[in-house]
Amino acid sequence: MKRSVLDISSLYVDVQAKQILKGVDLHIGEGEVHVLFGPNGSGKSTLLSTIMQLPGFEITKGIIEFMGESINTKKTDEIARSGVALSFQHPPAINGVTLSKFLYKINKSEDLEEEIRELDLEDFLDRDINTGFSGGELKRAEILKLYAQNPQLALIDEPESGVDLENITIIAKAINRILQYDESSNSRKKSALIITHTGHVLDYINADVGHIIINGRIISSGDPIEMMKEIKKDGFSGIMKRLNGQKET
Ligand SMILES: Nc1ncnc2c1ncn2[C@@H]1O[C@H](COP(=O)(O)OP(=O)(O)OP(=O)(O)O)[C@@H](O)[C@H]1O
Ligand SMILES: [Mg+2]
Repeated sequence: MKRSVLDISSLYVDVQAKQILKGVDLHIGEGEVHVLFGPNGSGKSTLLSTIMQLPGFEITKGIIEFMGESINTKKTDEIARSGVALSFQHPPAINGVTLSKFLYKINKSEDLEEEIRELDLEDFLDRDINTGFSGGELKRAEILKLYAQNPQLALIDEPESGVDLENITIIAKAINRILQYDESSNSRKKSALIITHTGHVLDYINADVGHIIINGRIISSGDPIEMMKEIKKDGFSGIMKRLNGQKET
């Protein structure tokens, strides 16, 4: 049986005293990639922020376990050190800290040098993190930081938003390297939860399970490619209607 990496049970989360997540259950095993779909404001980024225990996200009920251990009361840096990393939807700029300073603090391997070249970020090493970066540069830098952290569980929030098609390919390939996807054995060691609106990354990354979150609840789980097709065809509202119809009959 696959080792369990992330176990979220009946999770309720408040942001600014408003309930955003309303009973989320999610289980990710070793080597599994899950994709999260959902309309704007449904709670996708909130879920990732809560797993990292970023300030402002209050768990009012439920448990989050990483590698079999509760992280409910852990601090963000402990969670990061234990092997969870987040690539932000809107990466914050950090004035006064250069990209190279950040990277080399956490990873000094030759592989990292190679990855910097793959992501075409050699010219950005001496710049302050994310300061004045374009949309595509921001996302490439986020993925590079994720690579440097070498996480067991990668939380990736909209890696392709604001990125042109060529750069999406570059980013998706980097994600596959982070997940240590070995094409010869068709297996993966690392796990991930990826948020996507366009589904472009699914052209490159073999995802195992897709979930649709609406209004703070996962309403459906299944094959991610099929799910993406349904979303494109019927929209989230159409899927909602069908599921509600099924309940009534
Ligand atoms: N710091 C905050 N203060 C107030 N409300 C917040 C805060 N963070 C999130 N919210 C609210 O929580 C809800 C869920 O937001 P979240 O960012 O999780 O949505 P999302 O599913 O990631 O949407 P998108 O697809 O637009 O990125 C939204 O209504 C948002 O306004
Ligand atoms: Mg979001």
